This record gives sequence, C-alpha cells and structure tokens, in this order.
Amino acid sequence: MSAVSEVALAPQEPAYDVERVRAEFPILAEKVHGKPLVYLDNAATTQKPRAVIDALRGYYEHTNANIHRGVHVLSQRATEAYEGTRERVRRFLNAASAREIVFTRGTTEAINLVAQSYGRSRLKAGDEILISALEHHSNIVPWQLLCEQVGAVLRVVPIGDAGELLFEDYEKVLGPRTRLVALAHVSNALGTVLPVRRAIELAHAHGVPVLLDGAQAAAHQPVDVRALECDFYAFSGHKIYGPTGIGVLYGRRGLLEAMPPYQGGGDMIRTVTFEKSTWADIPHKFEAGTPNIAGTIGLGAALEFVERIGLEAIAAHEAGLLEYASGRAAEVPGLRIVGTAPEKAGILSFVLEGIHPHDIGTILDTQGVAVRAGHHCAMPVMQRFHVPATARASFALYNTRAEVDALIAAIDKAKELFG
Ligand code: ALA
Repeated sequence: MSAVSEVALAPQEPAYDVERVRAEFPILAEKVHGKPLVYLDNAATTQKPRAVIDALRGYYEHTNANIHRGVHVLSQRATEAYEGTRERVRRFLNAASAREIVFTRGTTEAINLVAQSYGRSRLKAGDEILISALEHHSNIVPWQLLCEQVGAVLRVVPIGDAGELLFEDYEKVLGPRTRLVALAHVSNALGTVLPVRRAIELAHAHGVPVLLDGAQAAAHQPVDVRALECDFYAFSGHKIYGPTGIGVLYGRRGLLEAMPPYQGGGDMIRTVTFEKSTWADIPHKFEAGTPNIAGTIGLGAALEFVERIGLEAIAAHEAGLLEYASGRAAEVPGLRIVGTAPEKAGILSFVLEGIHPHDIGTILDTQGVAVRAGHHCAMPVMQRFHVPATARASFALYNTRAEVDALIAAIDKAKELFG
C-alpha cells in the first residue's frame, strides 16, 4: 500500500464534540433565574467533571487514610494514590522527576513557598526581583513581603496598550542586580499570553532563574517545563477542573534540594531532637503536615480527564470561541475590549460605556450568564487601563458559540436597561 493511500485510509481525527464534553459536567444542567446556566467565569474557577466528583467520592468510600504513615491496607492505598498523582503531574508537565513536583494549596501557596524558601535564603538588600505589570496579586504581594524582609527591590516591566509585555523594557530592566524573574504565563485579567520562552532564555543568559505563574495556562495549552526551561512553575487544581485547595509547584531538582523548608511539621523531617532536626528529601521536605489527600486524587482525575480530550484540541476549541466572541463583542456599540494582545488565551475583558462592570455582571446573572466583574485580583492592570474594573468572560473546554451568543444577548439587555 502506498504512503498516500495509507494517509487517505487513516481514521479521521474525531471533531471536537463539545456536547459530549458538556455531558460530563453535571452542573452545566443547572438553571439560574430560570435560564440555562451559561458559565463564563472559568478563570476564577472551573466546573468539575463527573470523573473528578467520582474520584473524590470513591476516595472517601474506599480509601480514606493518612499517607506515608500506616502499615495497614487503606494507608498503603492512599499513599499509592497520592504518589501516583505526583507521577501523573510529572508526566503532565514533562518534568524530569516526580521529586520535582510539590503539592501545595494552589498557585498562591506555591509562589509564597518560592518567595519564602528560595527568596528569603538567597536574596539580600539591593537585589532585584523582576515581575510584569500584568501580574495577579498572588505574583506581586509575596515578592513585596520578601522585599520587606530582606531589603530587596521589586522591578516591574510595563505593558503596552494592547496588554502585551514590552519586551524591550524587559531587556532593559533585567540587569546585574536581578536575582529572580516571576512572570504570569497567561494574564488572568487580559488573557495575554506572555513570550515566556524568550523571557526565560534572556534571564538565563544573565544567570537568573524564572518562576512562571501558570494558573491561567495549564488548563488551556500544553505545558512542558523542560521545553520552556523554566525553573519553577505553579498551577492550581481548581482552574483545571480539579478540586479547590490543591495545587502544584514544579521546581528544578537542584534548586529544590538546596532550598530550606517552607513550613515545619510532620512528614517533612528525617530526624527530630530538641537540639536539631533534619529534613526529608524533596519533595516531602516541602509538604509538612497531612496534605490534601482527597484533593490530590481529585487533581489526578482532572488531569486524566483533560489528557483524554487533549490540550491541543482544547486550545484550538477555546481559540475558536475567543475569536468568535471578540468578533461579536466588537460589533456592540460602546463596548471596549480591554486586552487585545496578538497572543491571547480565552479571556475577554471588557467595559461598556455608561454601565459599571458590577452592574453588567448583575444583569448578566439575571440572564443566567456568569462572568466576573471587578479588578480580578490585578489592581495594577486596572490602573494601567484607567478603569475601576472590567467585566470578564473566560472560556473553558465546555463552552459553546451558542453561549457566546447568550453573552452578547445579555450585554444587549444590559444596554437596553441602562438606556
Ligand atoms: N485568580 C482568579 C481570577 O482571575 C480568582 O478570577
């Protein structure tokens, strides 16, 4: 058989079947104010598929026990499930070793861990930490706390009018005093995808490690920490269809090994005497106390679910939705999209002339459409665009064009009501 006919006979990739995906999410059948729920607040948190709900239930019904401690069957099962998820996360991020995967409460705790463990032990007065002007508060405030503690200085790379990182400024701000770069992979307020690969290359040329806040990226595009060559990568379970209260810090092995513990307690030690304690190996050194075992197992189920659909397919689906929504929004008189960078993920932030974003959010809710209205935990971004707040629709793998139409219809309704 010739190569050509082999290709011709190869089974077609199944088209993205959004209705089949939606059927996995029980909550999407809810009605809100008597209208079908149109859930477009996915950047705040995503809904959970049955696989995740079942995994949590199954854990409590058949497995529940503490990990790393018991000789009994349930404890061994729980430990295997917990450590099995670590291996799943390793594969998901393409990390070199499962030891490089630390479970945290979420992205926020992961960044605080790096600030307080890596930052506090290595940075001193006059050293600089570089972030961008589009960061979420969780990638600003931990560094401010660190700066107060050690006398370091926070340097901020500005963004342009489209919400894009000004790379020339990045090159200028990155200097001999820079000790750490911490950047969002994707902006939660604007949707901008940052040129992180280039940013990392340049930082490394200066010998500076880079942390990426992947909270808005991990559920929406494939992430390969080895291809990115990032030093730390953080993401949250609940933004990738998993439970709240569980997240991940990836750290390069050499860095994690050299870092002091973040919190002290059980499970993170090797030996304890009143004179001196010694630490467990990574990653356990960073996981003091009983962790969120059920949440970890739920996260594992979420990653399996996402991988089954495929992040390339999800990214393409969401890119189509964003394009459609941006086009439709552009036709609404008085609507201004905030954040129009050429590289964007599925986030549409906007303001409407004469209507406060909170009122937009409230009226949209009466139509069953859930969006976030506010500063999105990114007050400096609002200041940069001279707006008090925006309304924000953020897309996920289960959203449809019909839902975008519902969003636009609800916006029209808001305009009608406010005359
Ligand atoms: N960081 C989340 C958001 O952007 C809560 O809505």
